[in-house]
Amino acid sequence: TPVPPFDLVIFGAGGDLALRKLFPALAQRNEEGVLPEESRILGIVRKAEDVEGLPNEVAKKLKDSGLPADRIAAFLHRLTMVQMDALKPETYAALKTALGDSDRVRSFYLSTPPDLFIPICENLSKAEILTPTSRVILEKPLGRDLASARAINDAVAKILPESRTYRIDHYLGKETVQNLLVLRFANTLFERSWSSRDIDNVQITVAETVGLEQRAGYYDKAGHLRDMVQNHVLQLLCLFAIEPPNLLEADAVRDEKVRVLKALRPIVGPDVQRYTVRGQYGPGVAEGARAKGYVDELGQLSNTETFVAIRCEIDTWRWAGVPIFLRTGKRLAQRYSEIAVTFKPVPHSIFGAAPGCDQLNANRLVIRLQPDDGVQLQLMMKVPGSGKLKIVPRQLDLRYDTAFGVRSPDAYERLLTDVIRGDQTLFMRRDEVEQAWSWIDPILAGWQEYYPQPHRYAAGSWGPSQAIGLIEREGRSWADPELM
Ligand code: BG6
Repeated sequence: TPVPPFDLVIFGAGGDLALRKLFPALAQRNEEGVLPEESRILGIVRKAEDVEGLPNEVAKKLKDSGLPADRIAAFLHRLTMVQMDALKPETYAALKTALGDSDRVRSFYLSTPPDLFIPICENLSKAEILTPTSRVILEKPLGRDLASARAINDAVAKILPESRTYRIDHYLGKETVQNLLVLRFANTLFERSWSSRDIDNVQITVAETVGLEQRAGYYDKAGHLRDMVQNHVLQLLCLFAIEPPNLLEADAVRDEKVRVLKALRPIVGPDVQRYTVRGQYGPGVAEGARAKGYVDELGQLSNTETFVAIRCEIDTWRWAGVPIFLRTGKRLAQRYSEIAVTFKPVPHSIFGAAPGCDQLNANRLVIRLQPDDGVQLQLMMKVPGSGKLKIVPRQLDLRYDTAFGVRSPDAYERLLTDVIRGDQTLFMRRDEVEQAWSWIDPILAGWQEYYPQPHRYAAGSWGPSQAIGLIEREGRSWADPELM
């Protein structure tokens, strides 16, 4: 479906996300000719100086990405800055005037902390700015626990129906994440083995090399479990584990995801000590340079975790007994995200102790999200030669850039136009977000009581040694990213 003419209003237009992701994604879509001629982007800014300052910053950002000056000008032409205070209802008149009375699809992107979601929606409604097709986009994290998420969802539901509420999790816009469904449901090969019958364990890693960046205020209050696990990591887990939906349609897919979340075995009370690992980076060497520890970057003492590892299980017929290991953190040795599926070993090896092969490696399927997205399958192969039989592991390697020869779009490019088109498949439904919080809340409570202090790890390492213990005590080990 083509993108209909629209007005996209961005609250928090001067923020890190808008500048780094939203404006560049829209500019890219503009270059592709996807945005209808008369469509506009309205950036809400608080300070008068930002009315001129922000477009300059956007221009600089686009210039750095290599966009020629005339194309930058063409994009800026769509941009209107509106100065107002989102918390003050009387300032919404400026936005109302700027929007006029066009029948373009209105989308309001709330790229703000979650405590502003309710007042902004209420103020939009009171100012009679919402039209019957208006939609609202809520950035993650939606709240900080189940109760606050519910409060937001309840308040927003009074103003806009679920069908016009878009809860964003940008991981769902990543190419490889979408490809997970294709890999599973467009190929018979994998789906038949996709269960405890053939799979020994699953590992989901989302590792970053960056530290706190410019987000101390938000991140230190949220912590890594809320920032990354409640949303991105659980979404990956859901898409990996869902039952086949009957069709590729928003609610069919989301129904199945909710069922996975409901079947996730809760980790409660003292069990957090056994099944989770909390970490916080100390000083170290990251990306070839000396790096400060988290508390030094922050400038104050803190017990906020910057690393989380969890061993979990999905209590369903398909997944019972398959351990699932989640691992994510800041300031780790390498930036990469992947789902690694290790299959069970062959039931009986006919090769005995063939030289070079005292053990047959189990097959492993790696779905790599970043940096070099693709799919890799590890197989055991015979080394060519007429001498003694030698068997080694080798990879079938399918990288997107070489397989397709086109750039992978940034997640926000896809998601922003999906909102305007009215496609909710890649957005989180209310019950999904709440179900995810229902699983996270007991872990947060358990930490408070039984695990208040995170383990230290050196910046640039693979996290606390306890995370290695978590998997090794079950006779498994973290997949080696170098193999891909
Ligand atoms: C965001 C988190 O949602 O995702 C950040 O708030 C994190 O802390 C980012 O750095 C990671 O996104 P990506 O696309 O770079 O993997």
